[in-house]
Amino acid sequence: MLDKVKVLLDEVSSYSPKNPEELEQFRIQYLGKKGKMNDLFAAFKEVPNDQKKAFGQALNQLKQAIQDKLDEGKASFSENTQQSSGLDLSRPMSADQLGSRHPLSLVRNEIAEIFKRIGFTLSEGPEIEDDWHNFTALNLPDEHPARDMQDTFFIQQNPDILLRTHTSSVQVRFMENNQPPIRTLSPGRVYRNEAISARAHCIFHQVEGLYIDNDVSFADLKQTLLYFAKEMFGDKTEIRLRPSYFPFTEPSAEVDVSCNICSGKGCNVCKYTGYLEILGCGMVDPNVLKNCGIDPNVYTGFAFGMGIERIAMLKYQVKDLRLFFENDVRFLEQFKSTF
Ligand code: DAH
Repeated sequence: MLDKVKVLLDEVSSYSPKNPEELEQFRIQYLGKKGKMNDLFAAFKEVPNDQKKAFGQALNQLKQAIQDKLDEGKASFSENTQQSSGLDLSRPMSADQLGSRHPLSLVRNEIAEIFKRIGFTLSEGPEIEDDWHNFTALNLPDEHPARDMQDTFFIQQNPDILLRTHTSSVQVRFMENNQPPIRTLSPGRVYRNEAISARAHCIFHQVEGLYIDNDVSFADLKQTLLYFAKEMFGDKTEIRLRPSYFPFTEPSAEVDVSCNICSGKGCNVCKYTGYLEILGCGMVDPNVLKNCGIDPNVYTGFAFGMGIERIAMLKYQVKDLRLFFENDVRFLEQFKSTF
């Protein structure tokens, strides 16, 4: 009997399971209901009294050896699961495929940030507009020749409903609903019936600015735009104002910034003039203030409007405006590192 236990003890100590399934078989074989240990304990009764002590000790030793083997096997298989599943959990994660903001959104956000710092709020208006907000209130009555400056898409042959041709329509809505002091910036999409080319599109984006208060002067306009140009294009940037005409401002001007490529020396980007046109502006015409319910005898103000595509083209040296609308990831991915 004692010999039988010794044989089993050798068997157990030399046993090495290859996988958790084998280990479980081993457990059943020895410790299961019909297992070898139960047989031995059953045989214990038959053992003569004088041998009981030695036999009991041998049995306990065997049981302990079995338990040790089970514990050892369990621990080693749980360590191995990481390797055997083929996963290395200590490897650094691969970077997520992050998208990037569209360059036009980047530029719009930057313009908004720059004006936010000097107290401008953001406002929006509808893209489908009526004649009053897009034209008439802005000092462009019916048949006014300046309406031809912007080729308009009308909706369903209704000459009163159109796709806004500029974000100046938002100034009208804002003044109708707010009294001065007004400092607001209105970014948005605009539409014009134009042939698509490297320099023009039938859909594009503008930002409109409006500042109305007591004693707002042309000098305030100039200083505000100089601040914007320096923030947007760099500290060394200079601006130049040229007299111009817009029906909704008097006097009106077009604003150029010194070319950020050649620093004003002349290159093919600025066509050797040293300057690039970026926006239109002027003092809000008293008629416009009146049309919008603001007393022109008490208040004055300035307005400006710029194309976001134009600013983005200058800032990122993009030569073809159509790239902004094609959504080619090879183009868009180049703006990944900018926020
Ligand atoms: N609305 C003009 C355009 O689309 C841009 C503009 C010029 C806006 C002068 C203004 C302004 O507010 O004062 O061409």
